[in-house]
Amino acid sequence: MRKPFVAGNWKMNTDSLSSVSLAKAVADGVMELAGERLDVAVIPPFVYISAVVGTLSTTHIAVGAQDVYFERQGAFTGEISSSMLKDIGCAYVLCGHSERRHIIKEDDELINRKVSAAISGGLLPILCVGELIEQRKADETEQVVSNQLEKGLEGLSEEKLSAVTLAYEPVWAIGTGLTATPEQAQQVQSMMRELLSDMYDGQLADEIRILYGGSVKPDNAAVLMSQPDVDGLLVGGASLKSEDFIAIIKAAC
Ligand code: PGA
Repeated sequence: MRKPFVAGNWKMNTDSLSSVSLAKAVADGVMELAGERLDVAVIPPFVYISAVVGTLSTTHIAVGAQDVYFERQGAFTGEISSSMLKDIGCAYVLCGHSERRHIIKEDDELINRKVSAAISGGLLPILCVGELIEQRKADETEQVVSNQLEKGLEGLSEEKLSAVTLAYEPVWAIGTGLTATPEQAQQVQSMMRELLSDMYDGQLADEIRILYGGSVKPDNAAVLMSQPDVDGLLVGGASLKSEDFIAIIKAAC
């Protein structure tokens, strides 16, 4: 049985006060569930991670980062390494989020290096994949997602794969209010699991969690989670409202 996992990606939102109050409100709402019934993480902007880690230190809610650089240290102005994130109490890191693929123009090779560096630095990467609307309309979803998955995981041993969480996030569903239907999510996510079992051991493929992300809200969380290959949710906009995020977490377990 895969334990459900709900993560809230705050993107470039909140400030020093609201990041702490949001984390506190989430902790108050799901204290007994987090860690027991499901895994929960919040993913603040880099500069608020330490404060949020402090706020959540007595809870089982984990903290993640939205990005990481693949080098360990040195002359890489503006970048943050996995060991730095680990040092301040981060557990997870997003790799290949669609906003980084499409706005910042990160490619699969860079994303692959980040996934690998994250694991070497002791973090648990959440590798995000997903197709554009044009690609879905052209019936290329399977090909695009498979390609992102194969390239994102290239060179990763079975042992390293066990640190990875995957997230299927159709780009057309992110921040748009359009959600993939539960059937669309299931179709792609079961294909992802099949591909994993071709690439790795079948049992390992069975253990890897695959999240769905893209306009997840309190009213669609349960039906998405009812699909056999939807093991959790990666939530953007709705994770900024504590009531909504708490309702999503409750619907997921
Ligand atoms: P959204 O974002 O929930 O606002 O659509 C999801 C994501 O980007 O992870």
